[in-house]
Amino acid sequence: MSACFHFAAALDQGLKAAATTAGFDLALFDPDVRVAAAQHGDFQANGSLAYAKQAKQNPRAAAQALVAALPSETLALAKVEIAGPGFLNFTLLPSALETWLAAFPTESALRSASSATLAGQTWVVDYSSPNTAKQMHVGHLRSAVIGEAVARIVAFAGARVVRDNHIGDWGTSFGKIIWAYKHALATDRAALEAALASTPLEEFERLYKVGNTTADADPAVLEASRAELVKLQSGDPENIAIWRHIGEVSVAAFQKIYDLLGIRFDETLGESFYNDKVPAVYTEMLASGVAEESQGALVVFHDENPRYSRHAERPNPFIIRKADGAANYASTDLATILYRHTQFNADAALYVVDKRQGDHFEQLFLTAQKWFAATGRKLPRLEHLGFGTVLGEDGRPLKTRNGENIKLKDLLQEATDRARRLVDERSADIPEAERATIAEIVGVGSVQYADLSQNRSSDYTFAWEKMISLEGNTAAYLLYAVARLHSLFRKLDARPGDPAVESAASPLETAAELALARKLVQFADAQQQTIATLRPHFLCLYLYELAGTFSAFYTADKVAVEDPAIRARRLRLCARTLLVLETGLHLLGLRTLARM
Ligand code: ARG
Repeated sequence: MSACFHFAAALDQGLKAAATTAGFDLALFDPDVRVAAAQHGDFQANGSLAYAKQAKQNPRAAAQALVAALPSETLALAKVEIAGPGFLNFTLLPSALETWLAAFPTESALRSASSATLAGQTWVVDYSSPNTAKQMHVGHLRSAVIGEAVARIVAFAGARVVRDNHIGDWGTSFGKIIWAYKHALATDRAALEAALASTPLEEFERLYKVGNTTADADPAVLEASRAELVKLQSGDPENIAIWRHIGEVSVAAFQKIYDLLGIRFDETLGESFYNDKVPAVYTEMLASGVAEESQGALVVFHDENPRYSRHAERPNPFIIRKADGAANYASTDLATILYRHTQFNADAALYVVDKRQGDHFEQLFLTAQKWFAATGRKLPRLEHLGFGTVLGEDGRPLKTRNGENIKLKDLLQEATDRARRLVDERSADIPEAERATIAEIVGVGSVQYADLSQNRSSDYTFAWEKMISLEGNTAAYLLYAVARLHSLFRKLDARPGDPAVESAASPLETAAELALARKLVQFADAQQQTIATLRPHFLCLYLYELAGTFSAFYTADKVAVEDPAIRARRLRLCARTLLVLETGLHLLGLRTLARM
């Protein structure tokens, strides 16, 4: 038999089997296994209490019947207790912890044990998805960082992941940019070419502003911009070439930021990709009766939902084709769902997008449900992973002093500069080039981690001092713990996870050793909770607690002792702590360091 990786899942199974033996009505019984507070053992299950209530049984008697039927030995339990009105507390055998430590010594062992969870499923993660012709700003941070962490976490759990950057590369703004581009070409070609050669995305962003303000002030320019847009939409080669150029420089600039954040997309299928796919959507939506014509537009009402019902006080239908016949955000998103279903055979599609787009996704998903039901297709699980706003220390959305959006590029540079000062102070002995790398990893990692460690639905305050601090639930604290473990192995001239050393380990004994081993096996629970909620802050919190438990162990128990068996078992705990911390940080999208 292979070693148990996820004890809570095994307990859940065991409790269900015991419930069958005890004659419970399984339809009413959910074991509800969770990690317990340390003084109560390893896990607790509250499900028998809820069951007893529903089945009108005595809760303690129900708990006793369950415990009597539980195969404690196969579940590697040292102790099962009935507490209070009928909670169950479980303590694992120390030997079960040791088996776990021996069985999962590498990142790939952890991965293959984890991969049973979502094996065989395809998940599309739609994230980052900025608009072209604009530089990414701080508002784009969260989608990129959270999306990458979620993609890595579900991939680790066995899903095939399609990372899809759904860029906004189509829309009315392109008429204005093309007008301004042609105007600049005619009036100051040399300046335009020089700017496009050195900072192309900045130049297109500037041209957009020029086009916008000029068109606002001059109706003739507005008209000319509209004409450029129509030419673009009807496939005029010159305008298509300019538009392509804009897309290319935008994606190249985005990629520089993605490189810092460890992001590689599998697909960059922007809104324009769906241009030729929307007409079929209109036809199906009309034919199935999901959509209807209204004042020239194509709209969808959801009468069962008071907010989107046609009977609402101010009806607010989902417009899927504008009155002028043009496609919009909703039409492309519908075509995108169909494409993800047919091309990727997606089981799930996650949209990592600002929570202020909640209404859009609610209407989109309701519409897709009806459309897929009417056409006999199997709808993927669709979920909007909404996130809050990044606030400045004044409690308002983070901006520069002059009230402008902060460029993501500048923000990550500042993070690196600040981390550099810290590294220069603390580790002047490390060579210059390595210090630069450390600063980038600590700086960028701090920004990523500060974002991920917050519950994504909440707003959070961006505070440099707190973020780059070596204390508290921060990247620097965890990266430092990792570096310290590496240095411990270097000092002892040992290799983490060396089987020749570890095979000499004696059984765990001290309270600190046992506490650390218990925390290590909870890695599976942290993953599970993160996947169930699609909220990476649970993984962050676990890693932070693990680092704290390790510190307590390290203070209490000396590793480099004479006795080779004690030394071996403590080295094994150090190696697994290092492994789980590094694996966890990599899942969050951070890079780790061997020294800092
Ligand atoms: N480009 C959009 C924006 O900047 C985000 C797109 C999100 N993805 C989607 N399939 N709607 O707001």
